[in-house]
Formats: sequence, structure tokens, C-alpha cells
Amino acid sequence: MIKQTISNDIFYVGASDRRIKLFENIYPLDRGVSYNSYLIAGDKTALLDSVDDAVGKVFLQKVKDALGDRDLDYFIVNHMEPDHCACIEDVMNTFPSVTLVTNNKAAMMIQEYFGYDWAERRIIVKDNDTLSIGNHELKFVFAPMVHWPEVMMTLDTTTGILFSADAFGTFGALSGNIFADQAYKGDEWQEESRRYYTNIVGKYGVQVKNALAKLTGEDIKMLAPLHGPIWRKDIDKILDKYAKWSTYQYEDKAVVLIYGSIYGHTAEAVDMLAAQLDNLGASNLKVYDASNVDVSYLVAESFRCSHIIIASATYNGAIFTPIERYLAEIISHNLQNRTIGIVENGTWSATSGTLITKELEKMKNITLLGNKVSVKAALGENNLDSIKALAEEICESLK
Ligand code: FEO
Repeated sequence: MIKQTISNDIFYVGASDRRIKLFENIYPLDRGVSYNSYLIAGDKTALLDSVDDAVGKVFLQKVKDALGDRDLDYFIVNHMEPDHCACIEDVMNTFPSVTLVTNNKAAMMIQEYFGYDWAERRIIVKDNDTLSIGNHELKFVFAPMVHWPEVMMTLDTTTGILFSADAFGTFGALSGNIFADQAYKGDEWQEESRRYYTNIVGKYGVQVKNALAKLTGEDIKMLAPLHGPIWRKDIDKILDKYAKWSTYQYEDKAVVLIYGSIYGHTAEAVDMLAAQLDNLGASNLKVYDASNVDVSYLVAESFRCSHIIIASATYNGAIFTPIERYLAEIISHNLQNRTIGIVENGTWSATSGTLITKELEKMKNITLLGNKVSVKAALGENNLDSIKALAEEICESLK
């Protein structure tokens, strides 16, 4: 196998899966995903996390090749979700003298997943415990709910590399380059980083904020996550995004318009609203048909933008299903601090607007715009005035 070096005696031993279509069997992946694992081969050897079953074989070979004729001394388990823990048993069996290093919660999960906990070959660490492995000093920083309760990060205080578990991860397989500054051009990382964060960890903003606070003052030179490339340059850029996302602040003062339309009339109203926003000078507008875009993209865009227009036909006396699903997702992901406007439609009874308003009451710090567009079947002359009024109110609020 080809060896990829992160820093002197630390190697990348993860692998990419480009066959996978749905992450966690729910989130569409256009370009696969990587499962990262790292090997420290200094005075002592330590492996950080394993990988998903899909790439287990290549991972084990990489570990063996990187070790050469050396044995594995420590196996650190930071996170027990199966996309990282699937190969624990293989590692423990392949290296019979390895010592498992993990925390109490993860040890319980190991028992649950594997029916065995390797208690006789194990060190249980507590928050902020350190472990000296010769020329590397490791510190374990617990990060519960980023993204499971057992999650911890391992900071190599010797090199400043933070093995950050799911935090700072990105969707997308690696294409050879293991560092973000080589893998991406400019800001192109943002879209899939945002979609990964908001959908996977977005609900746990408070816990992410707490984890970031615990790392303040540490001299972090590299962020080595369990998915996507490693951050060694411009670390502030992704830290700044995490600070925003975890506190539910918008990134862009911009409007995203999301509609659910059965025969196109609600879509037409939204397009007219967007056109009027353009007339009034609003930029960076984005319009999405919720029936044709996976909801994970809509969640990400809703985290990005300050203003959201939600438009829905009335369907079976309720909100049109794709918008119902979208609302359920932003509510369950704890989105807050947004300004929202509503466009409703219904042929004999347009109740979707009232129902959307009721759903929005479940969210924190939502400013609901006073002007609502209510379409009766198809756009009528009277709708023009309400569309213009809503557009004006949005632009006023964007100032
Ligand atoms: Fe990539 Fe929470 O596992």
C-alpha cells in the first residue's frame, strides 16, 4: 500500500467508499465518503479509530503496511458509530497484544456491538486524562453528543494534531489529497461541510459549542476528522463556521425560497416573489423545489441564510408533504434565529399557511414576517399586491 504521511511519524490509514449512495442510509452522497483512521508510529504505535466495514480490508492492510515489522501498542476508540467502529474486532484479533484505549460509555457500546469488551486488554480514560506514548503525549477531550454521547477527541499535544472524531468532517470521498488546502479550491469545501455538519450534528449546537470552548487555549495545528480531508491551513475558517453553526447564527444575509407545489401554481408565486426581490436589489437568492431536492440540502441552506420563505400547497387539508418533511427536519435540527415568510395555496381551503405558522411556534427566535401571500388555486391579480408587499417587507428586514 502507498503510505501517506500527515506529520513525521503519523500516517493516514483511512479509505474512501465511492459506491455508497446514502450516508447513514438517509443522506445522499454525490461523491462518496471517506472513513479516516490515523496511525502514530513513534516510540510507541497507536491507531486512532477504525473504519466502516465497506473499506475494512484495505484499512487493515494499510495499518499493517504502515507498521512494517512493528506491533500495534495502542488502539484508541474515540467514537462508536459503526462507520468507525466496525473493524474493532478485526484490529483486536489482528494485534493480540494491543491495548484498547477508550472511555466508559464507549466501552459499554463495544460490549453491546461485539458482545465482548476486551476488559483485560483495556485502559479506560476520563475527560482530560493524558497518555504518554513515548515521543507523543496524548490528551483525551470528551465531546459528548458531537455526535454521540461517548465521543471524545484525542489531542496529540506534541504535534498539535487534534483527532477530532466527527467534528470538522465533510462528505465526499478523498481524491488522493488528504489535506483540505490541496483537496479544495477556494471555498468549495463549504457546501458539503455545511451539509454534513447541519444534518449530522446540527441538532447538538450547545454540545458543539461546549466542545469548542474546551479546546480554547490549546495549541491546535491540525484538525484530523473521521470524514473528509485534514485541516492544516486556515483552521480559523472552519472554526469560524463551527462557531456560527453551533449557535445557529446565519452565515449570509440572504433569502432562500423553498416551495412545495403540486401543479406549479405555488412555484409560480415563489418565482414572482423572487423576481420582485431581484427588482428591489436582493442578491444571492436561492429557490428550491422541495419535491426535487433532498431535504438535507434544504436544511443546510436554511442554516446558511438569514431569511427563509416557505411556500406550500394545501394537501389533504395539511401542509404539502415535502414541506411538512422540511419543517420537521429544521425543527428537529434545532434551527433558530431566522426571519421567515409564508406563501400558502389551496383551491377550496388554503390552510397550509396557518399550519406552517403553528409548526414554526416549535422553533426558537423566529421572526415571522407580517405579510403573507395566499393563493387561491392559481395566481390572481390580487396576489401581485401581496407578493410586492412581502418582497418589500423582506428587503426592509434584510437592511
Ligand atoms: Fe461518522 Fe458519528 O459517525
